[in-house]
Amino acid sequence: MTRKRRGILSATVLLLCVIFYWLFAAPGVADLSISSTELSIERGEYLVHAGGCISCHQGEGASGLSGGMALVSDFGTFYAPNITPDVSTGIGGWNSREFLMALKHGRTPNGSFYYPAFPYRAYSGMSDQDVMDIAAYLLAQEPVTHTVPKHDLSMWMSRWFMAGWNRLADFSAKPPLLKTEDPLILRGAYLARNLGHCGECHTPRNALGMLQQSREFAGATMGESHADAINPDALTSWGREDFAFFLLLGMKPDGEFIGGEMESVIEHNTSMLSDEDRAALAAFFKQER
Ligand code: HEC
Ligand code: HEC
Repeated sequence: MTRKRRGILSATVLLLCVIFYWLFAAPGVADLSISSTELSIERGEYLVHAGGCISCHQGEGASGLSGGMALVSDFGTFYAPNITPDVSTGIGGWNSREFLMALKHGRTPNGSFYYPAFPYRAYSGMSDQDVMDIAAYLLAQEPVTHTVPKHDLSMWMSRWFMAGWNRLADFSAKPPLLKTEDPLILRGAYLARNLGHCGECHTPRNALGMLQQSREFAGATMGESHADAINPDALTSWGREDFAFFLLLGMKPDGEFIGGEMESVIEHNTSMLSDEDRAALAAFFKQER
């Protein structure tokens, strides 16, 4: 081999290593501990509601968050896993790092990738403390032994492709910056964009299934289901009180009750929030942007 060829070869290998590292390296997470105090467990329970976890992970009958629900998407059918602390079929024995990696980075305990049917990109903005309290609550629940079906996806939908998908999604536009320091609106933004992941259904996606954040809350269709636009333009006839009332009871200003997937969001998420948090969501959605 000539010296020139050897040079090209080593440069190529180096470049591949850099790309490999960039795609697959595990992100750093803080070294925290999961508390088992009553206070953390109670906060965690509230956050599990605000995070809408129940809408997807609820098991059949009264079996807690033991999963099994089919989530039909344009990319195939996903089955929400068992997130009770059962060691063999659930998340028993998970440590703080595993919770932070899963919820904030979409990474599995063995370094692989979750599919974004699990809304970890929204949850990535969650505070570490909130993740720890969610962990405290989940680990304090009754373990349920329940094996959920395998996802039904096309052949090419490998978990490892999600490495590239995540990087591409990082490049796409960010949600509009908030031009306010009003704590109520900021709390509303945290509940809507992160915990409540309202954009997962209400923000349109591109052909690769990435959220088009420049059109945040402009309405979207996934499979059979259409989620209306909920940006300020669409909500002109809704007052803040109307919005907060809707989040409590699912009744629109015209007196009609909401159906579809939103019913579950109202039942398990927004109706369980404090009046203050519903007011925060209303303040966020009704503010001029
Ligand atoms: C829109 C549906 C949906 C919501 C909402 C949701 N999840 Fe999930 N979750 C999933 C799916 C689907 C997976 C599996 C993804 C995969 O296999 O790649 C998953 C995976 C997980 C895992 C990893 C489990 C394992 O065995 O590896 C944990 C932990 C988890 N979710 C916790 C939560 C928590 C906590 C919340 C609420 C803050 C939540 N999820 C909200 C759908 C959801
Ligand atoms: C799992 C998907 C999903 C999530 C998550 C979700 N929504 Fe919805 N939402 C829908 C669908 C679907 C509809 C339309 C339901 C129908 O009319 O049958 C809807 C309707 C609505 C409406 C009524 C709009 C109108 O003009 O009639 C409002 C307001 C709303 N959602 C707010 C929210 C907020 C706030 C959040 C976050 C806390 C949220 N949604 C999260 C799916 C979702």
